[in-house]
Amino acid sequence: MRTTTRLAGALAAAASFLFPTALAQNNAAVTFTDPGTGIVFNSWGIANGAAQTQGGYTFGMALPSNALSTDATEFIGYLQCAAKDNKGWCGVSLGGPMTNSLLVAAWPNEDNIYTSLRYATGYAMPDPYTGDAKITQVSSTINSTHFTLVFRCQNCLKWNQAGTSGGASTSAGFLVLGWVQAFPSPGNPTCPSQITLEQHDNGMGIWGAVLDSNVANPSYTAWAAKATKTVAETCAGPTETAIVGVPVPTGTVFDYVVVGGGAGGLPMADKLSESGKKVLLIEKGFASTGEHGGTLGPSWLSGTGLTRFDVPGLCNQIWVDSKGIACTDTDQMAGCVLGGGTAVNAGLWFKPYSLDWDYLFPAGWKYNDIAAAAGRVFSRIPGTDTPSTDGKRYYQQGFDVLSSGLAGGGWGKVTANSSPNQKNRTYSAAPFMYSGGQRGGPLATYLTSAKRRANFNLWLNTAVKRVIRDGGHITGVEVEPFRNGGYQGIVPVTATAGRVVLSAGTFGTAKILMRSGIGPTDQLEIVKASADGPTMINSTAWIPSPVGYNLDDHLNTDTVITHPNVSFYDFYEAWDAPIEGDKTSYLSKRSGILAQAAPNIGPMFWEEIKGADGIVRQLQWTARVEGSFDTPNGKAMTMSQYLGRGATSRGRMTITPALSTIVSDVPYLKDPNDKEAVIQGIVNLQNALKKVTGLVWTYPNSTTTARNYVNDMVVSPSNRRSNHWMGTSKLGTDDGRLNGGTAVVDLNTKVYGTDNLFVVDASIFPGVPTTNPSAYIVTAAEHAAQKILALAAPVRNAKWAQCGGRNWNGSFLCAAGSTCQYQNDWYSQCL
Ligand SMILES: Cc1cc2nc3c(=O)[nH]c(=O)nc-3n(C[C@H](O)[C@H](O)[C@H](O)COP(=O)(O)OP(=O)(O)OC[C@H]3O[C@@H](n4cnc5c(N)ncnc54)[C@H](O)[C@@H]3O)c2cc1C
Ligand code: HEM
Ligand SMILES: *[C@@H]1O[C@H](CO)[C@@H](O)[C@H](O)[C@H]1NC(C)=O
Ligand SMILES: *[C@@H]1O[C@H](CO)[C@@H](O)[C@H](O)[C@H]1NC(C)=O
Ligand SMILES: *[C@@H]1O[C@H](CO)[C@@H](O)[C@H](O)[C@H]1NC(C)=O
Ligand SMILES: *[C@@H]1O[C@H](CO)[C@@H](O)[C@H](O)[C@H]1NC(C)=O
Ligand SMILES: *[C@@H]1O[C@H](CO)[C@@H](O)[C@H](O)[C@H]1NC(C)=O
Ligand SMILES: *[C@@H]1O[C@H](CO)[C@@H](O)[C@H](O)[C@H]1NC(C)=O
Repeated sequence: MRTTTRLAGALAAAASFLFPTALAQNNAAVTFTDPGTGIVFNSWGIANGAAQTQGGYTFGMALPSNALSTDATEFIGYLQCAAKDNKGWCGVSLGGPMTNSLLVAAWPNEDNIYTSLRYATGYAMPDPYTGDAKITQVSSTINSTHFTLVFRCQNCLKWNQAGTSGGASTSAGFLVLGWVQAFPSPGNPTCPSQITLEQHDNGMGIWGAVLDSNVANPSYTAWAAKATKTVAETCAGPTETAIVGVPVPTGTVFDYVVVGGGAGGLPMADKLSESGKKVLLIEKGFASTGEHGGTLGPSWLSGTGLTRFDVPGLCNQIWVDSKGIACTDTDQMAGCVLGGGTAVNAGLWFKPYSLDWDYLFPAGWKYNDIAAAAGRVFSRIPGTDTPSTDGKRYYQQGFDVLSSGLAGGGWGKVTANSSPNQKNRTYSAAPFMYSGGQRGGPLATYLTSAKRRANFNLWLNTAVKRVIRDGGHITGVEVEPFRNGGYQGIVPVTATAGRVVLSAGTFGTAKILMRSGIGPTDQLEIVKASADGPTMINSTAWIPSPVGYNLDDHLNTDTVITHPNVSFYDFYEAWDAPIEGDKTSYLSKRSGILAQAAPNIGPMFWEEIKGADGIVRQLQWTARVEGSFDTPNGKAMTMSQYLGRGATSRGRMTITPALSTIVSDVPYLKDPNDKEAVIQGIVNLQNALKKVTGLVWTYPNSTTTARNYVNDMVVSPSNRRSNHWMGTSKLGTDDGRLNGGTAVVDLNTKVYGTDNLFVVDASIFPGVPTTNPSAYIVTAAEHAAQKILALAAPVRNAKWAQCGGRNWNGSFLCAAGSTCQYQNDWYSQCL
């Protein structure tokens, strides 16, 4: 689950809006003439005093006269941002999301406003933009509370960073833009190429910007000619230092290498090591929870052995301060630390609904097949819906409002993990994987037991580049340091019987496959043309596979209500300045509100809706005590609707020339029946909650129909993702090497076209299930471990025998004295 915004100031003054609608929705422009320059802008903004940002924010755009018929390459921008006593920065994303868009950042310093063009490949500090875009200034003002900048941005509406391109089309008459604002000043403020930024702490979001005829003006050329000013930069010189790695020790060889220590990799490594095999788990990130050596956290945790990852009440910090934790090579939020998603997530933990397996998976993976594995998972991680060790739930007013409303509307009360199959018009308290008031989950169970075994090894700060393979047989993995102290070189697996399991996540695993020459040809061509090219496996050995297709995620649609009973708890404030009593109860007894997940999650509720196409679609609602859009914290609850099992829309993940991964085809709302379920679900919820006196819907409000609300909401990962990405290495029987085949791995999770490479993580799921998926992924790993351990090692083929080919499912190894040689795409032979 995610939250949209860190709302600045718990209860802002009465919001008076410059522009009426919610920023995540399509917004008509307000025509505005800058008094200083006379330039006419289309503008959008948030008034001073509104909940989303302190001090207000306005962005304006003026375009060349023909921009509504011919795509413009440049614009004149207007930024009015908050900066108290010259402190702060703000920005605009010209593509909407923070990632894969050209970003303009601006900040005042003494009498000047500095700007920097930036580009981010992940939710981390954006890099300097290396394309030929250029900013020159028309005018700027700075006073004690605000700064204003009118600037010309040339070559800014099409961008290309290290081969990845994008753009904003003005002729479409509609842009998706993103805004961002922050309180502290950048570090190195007079050297734009070397600024350092903390994550923006004064709001951010995307909006749909509808352009009108006033945006394109015959005077544009004359106005642009006034942009003559550039601000002198003062830079101290380069500061970059290279990462120092450690060579892979010679003579090391492992029976199993598991890549990635997340929801899939941790149980996999444990189960394999339990069988006595020599196992190496390689994780890119550093240690997260205190038990495993992590140290990161607010000062009040120092000396306690706890980190930010341990304390449930701090789990949302990932959205507030993701630097160093979020993966930098994927444009969606993912944890690149030990534990992966299970270290950074909200810990929601659901016993599988049998229909999810029966509907999504093929034979061998139906509910009856995985039930024993699920039983093993829940015996180790039973979870709890009362995380505080005193068994009490805190700040339940919001929970009570909604659950009493749902009960009154005829929905049934259940305990989610006691009745996993009751998912139609039911509600429950939220169950978590937490244990003893701490994060718990796979890190505290599977990893802990694995580490007790001498045959288990863990390498941190080490990234796997690719698998090394001889045709379809993997001989090892190539690693590089992700941070100082990580390993570098090639790690071999045991001859013949050795195996590699990829558990690097939906984006990470797909990337490793592509870099190993396994994937769609267009993607392998991109890898070939990248820095990997010279050392990439020969194209005659490429294995065609639909890696990256079938991308899925719960589509999220946020709705908001207020009720006078609701009581907001400021979990964000608990980072810097926890309420003393809450801190003490947590530290001494692991009890109180800080043992609960931020931002006070619950109730969870579910509905199943049959579409006109006959498919039943699953909705899960997650309520939390927090405002969204312009409804401030205080009395508000956000109810996020996830569209799950039954949705047919799928997208695609691809790799970039800089070897990052991107969601290039967004998997949301391609099927009108998917959209109808979303709309109907809101209508049904409105009806269910009708009788609650004092409950007010703010999104959608009483004058907006659910249909219009959904139709007007921008469809972008930035505002619709649930961070439950799955499906890029789908499990199935239709071998993806062959025409029309959609599966990357077979029923043993073995990659088609190989005899000892496996994928076990979110990427093998054919589609998203009902609930947040981590318990399902751990269950899949428990099930897959048994299948993998039961598989016989490949047998060496005799000389002259077949050892490969497009539809070859056998061993790729040859008897001593012969090697497997490529003859044609359909036939390789031991010669
Ligand atoms: C912010 C957030 C909140 C969420 N909330 C919930 C929730 O409350 N409940 C729930 O059930 N689900 C939640 N999810 C989803 C859930 O956590 C993920 O679906 C799950 O963790 C995915 O498991 P995985 O094994 O596929 O990948 P991950 O758990 O992401 O693990 C992949 C691991 O591989 C590592 N890695 C990647 N590339 C390499 C490489 N090349 N070499 C070495 N290591 C590599 C990564 O660092 C990472 O540790 C949330 C996700 C996020 C991001
Ligand atoms: C250290 C630097 C930065 C970090 C760690 C960071 C991190 C993040 C994170 C985690 C989010 C998602 C928050 C959420 O959904 O709740 C986000 C959103 C956003 N960021 Fe940043 N950011 C940084 C710098 C910047 C800069 C310089 C800009 C633009 C100039 C920017 C623009 C945005 C925008 C527009 C969004 C909202 C859209 C989206 O979620 O994609 N960010 N950022
Ligand atoms: C409801 O929302 C719409 C669209 O956001 C807005 O135009 C309208 O003024 C709102 N009405 C009320 C009663 O708040
Ligand atoms: C500072 O500038 C802002 C934006 O132009 C304006 O709204 C505000 O009134 C100014 N404040 C002062 C003290 O001049
Ligand atoms: C609101 O709180 C009051 C006082 O505790 C309680 O009587 C009432 O039932 C609550 N209403 C709802 C909808 O929870
Ligand atoms: C790739 O393999 C083919 C066929 O074996 C061979 O002719 C070619 O030289 C190889 N290319 C490289 C770059 O090794
Ligand atoms: C869900 O429950 C409602 C109300 O009982 C019912 O009308 C609907 O048919 C059920 N949906 C499915 C898919 O069974
Ligand atoms: C390999 O397996 C696929 C899928 O099970 C099957 O369709 C195909 O016929 C098999 N090929 C061979 C050569 O056995």
